[in-house]
Amino acid sequence: MNTTVVAVKPEAKIKKVISGIRNLPTPPIVFEQIQKVLNDPNTSVGDVANILSEDPAMSVKILKLTNSAFYGLQREIDSVKHAVMIIGLEAVRNLVLSASVLNMFKANDGNKEYHEVFWRHSLSAAFAARLMAKRFRGGEIFNPDPAFSTGLIHDIGKMIICCFLIPEHTKIVELMQKNPDWPEFQAEDAVLGFNHALLGKELAIHWKLPVRMADAIGYHHHPAEPNDSEDFAYLICLCDFLAHAGSIAEDDAKAARYQIPPAVFEFFKLDAPEINAVKGQLMEEYMKAETFLKIAGLN
Ligand SMILES: [Fe+2]
Ligand SMILES: [Fe+2]
Repeated sequence: MNTTVVAVKPEAKIKKVISGIRNLPTPPIVFEQIQKVLNDPNTSVGDVANILSEDPAMSVKILKLTNSAFYGLQREIDSVKHAVMIIGLEAVRNLVLSASVLNMFKANDGNKEYHEVFWRHSLSAAFAARLMAKRFRGGEIFNPDPAFSTGLIHDIGKMIICCFLIPEHTKIVELMQKNPDWPEFQAEDAVLGFNHALLGKELAIHWKLPVRMADAIGYHHHPAEPNDSEDFAYLICLCDFLAHAGSIAEDDAKAARYQIPPAVFEFFKLDAPEINAVKGQLMEEYMKAETFLKIAGLN
């Protein structure tokens, strides 16, 4: 008898995992509504400001962030409508997304430290992505706003594993302790049959985030794999390395292990002195992370 074994694709496995999670975190209604109106080309600043006014806590965050060092504007913005007008619709959509994800995953006594390291790294990647997006050809290729929020959620799959696949997460941590040279995705692949990058991509699709964002999350460890958003995946890959290397979170020994792969240098035609110059600028950017977290992370 001829038995054919059909391998289950990681995507199918992940979809099953996602649909099986009760209380799966989802962005708040205000984000859903903003997404919806932004798909309409006739949407005005007033429409978005009206949606925001239904969520006073989010309105306060947007107003405070617009007036903070995060934007570094010269004049005081005194209304949400004015804020939307000044920073733009795309920026508002991404700020709402960023502020939302910071509150979606709650730490408990068992994983406080993991959460702390996770969000520090994610914020570092977000600030790196915003800075690099502004730098490349004078900001013509990448929009800094989605770059920031994609940097912030590029590892969001890890949060799903840590918060909802707890026995598997324990096994992954043990496997990494036994194999300290392994990247985390390798240990995840071994335990789960998929990794946090692909899990994050499927989550982004589930949340109806833009395709480019989902792709960049899905391929941030393997940007050369065929995908429709290769340039954005390379950007997030680079910023993941920058965040590890010059992080506000990690120790020197760990940082030294993260060397930017030659393919990333080649893709962006970068050289080491240029990266070193960026690192200095990044340290300045990271100073704003505390302010961002204080305002956006408020419950
Ligand atoms: Fe990652
Ligand atoms: Fe990362």
